[in-house]
Amino acid sequence: MKPGGPFKTPPARRLPAHEPAAPRAPRDGEGVAGHDASIPGAGTGPATRASARSRIPAFEVMRITDEIAKRRAAGRDVVSLCAGEPSARPVPGTITPAGYTGPLGTTPLREAISGHYRGWYGVDVDPATIAITTGSSGAFQLVFLAAFDPGDRVALASPGYPAYRNILAALGVDVVEIPTGPDTRYQPTPELLDAAVAAGGPLAGLIVASPANPTGTMLGRAELGALAAWCARHGARLISDEIYHGITFPEADDADPRGVTARELLPDAIVINSFSKYWGMTGWRLGWAILPEDLVAPFEALASNFALSPPAPAQELALTAFSDESYAERDAIVAGFARARTLILDAESQLGWGVAAPSDGAFYYYSELGEPLLERFGDSVSYARTLLETADVALVPGVDFDPLAGRRAVRLSYAAGEPAVAEAIDRIIRFQAG
Ligand SMILES: Cc1ncc(COP(=O)(O)O)c(C=O)c1O
Repeated sequence: MKPGGPFKTPPARRLPAHEPAAPRAPRDGEGVAGHDASIPGAGTGPATRASARSRIPAFEVMRITDEIAKRRAAGRDVVSLCAGEPSARPVPGTITPAGYTGPLGTTPLREAISGHYRGWYGVDVDPATIAITTGSSGAFQLVFLAAFDPGDRVALASPGYPAYRNILAALGVDVVEIPTGPDTRYQPTPELLDAAVAAGGPLAGLIVASPANPTGTMLGRAELGALAAWCARHGARLISDEIYHGITFPEADDADPRGVTARELLPDAIVINSFSKYWGMTGWRLGWAILPEDLVAPFEALASNFALSPPAPAQELALTAFSDESYAERDAIVAGFARARTLILDAESQLGWGVAAPSDGAFYYYSELGEPLLERFGDSVSYARTLLETADVALVPGVDFDPLAGRRAVRLSYAAGEPAVAEAIDRIIRFQAG
């Protein structure tokens, strides 16, 4: 353990000429995010607030575009001389040609997503608090901008998805990496957060992912509830990346087969999700954020300037994602991931690697390589490079997800399916025996 405690605060790259951070008191006319006193252990923690830099005017043209769409949907014959937008070029196939939509997306899609939350989790989500974004990646940028100011401290688990820390660092937010391991299923805990606060000061936010990338591990209802209560008590925003929900391998009696959404546990939680993984629509660049009331207007102001609107054809196509046929088709794909996962778990002793994270969901298997292979190859970067050069098997060294401990680990994605995974396992075993 390094002096000063285990928590790594990588030097955040700061952007020049930022306004000083606003005082923590609410601004005129600004709502304050309250926390639900019914959450066990939440108490009445300090209020959270929107970031000072999200205090920019909305792009009015985009707000009007949204208004026009709503009026037209209500049957009004609106003539628009509003947007600088030529008539849309017809798209081959069934998709209707479309121009900009409102900055938070189309009403039908936001309503469909709200219906998805009712169907999967039994949770009511107001469509007005759902923002459609260009992938969940677009949601991260706008949520971080809306919620945090430069110098705020935001915690996340290490190993973890690298874009969280890289986007936060680009925005001048202090990233507080919480080293995790098998003892906590590679997930943060209230005790680890307490220690991070004791070591470096209050946290403005916590980012969790369940199932996580690269480990695939999940937070159960009790564990996520404890983190939600901690955030409520400490005035920290909880941002829950639920992009791998639905790609889960539950035990037979699991009460939460799709994953637990943070929205079930904390009404102010920010949930981020996407059509990329469960629905396999990566290239359509479509995701969403569920926002607490106090962030809707700041987020809209940012979105209307940064992106104008999420992609319209993708939003139209995404409406088809919520049919019974679509869920059945995607669940069949997930069943294929489950079979590929079993192949890896069954091959564990032949692979002879070290400790692996429990692959609860997503399509990732994250494992230590173990001493003999590390002694032979030096680290996971060299192991992965040699494996690719010698046996044409590509897997990811853990350094993307944890620059230090990741030198000892590798991540396998079994999204490629059973035949590819079976072939890769054979080749890896032969490569290691050579
Ligand atoms: C945990 C996690 N979150 C978010 C993303 C971003 O996905 P997208 O922008 O396609 O929604 C990824 C992509 O791999 C991911 O693994």
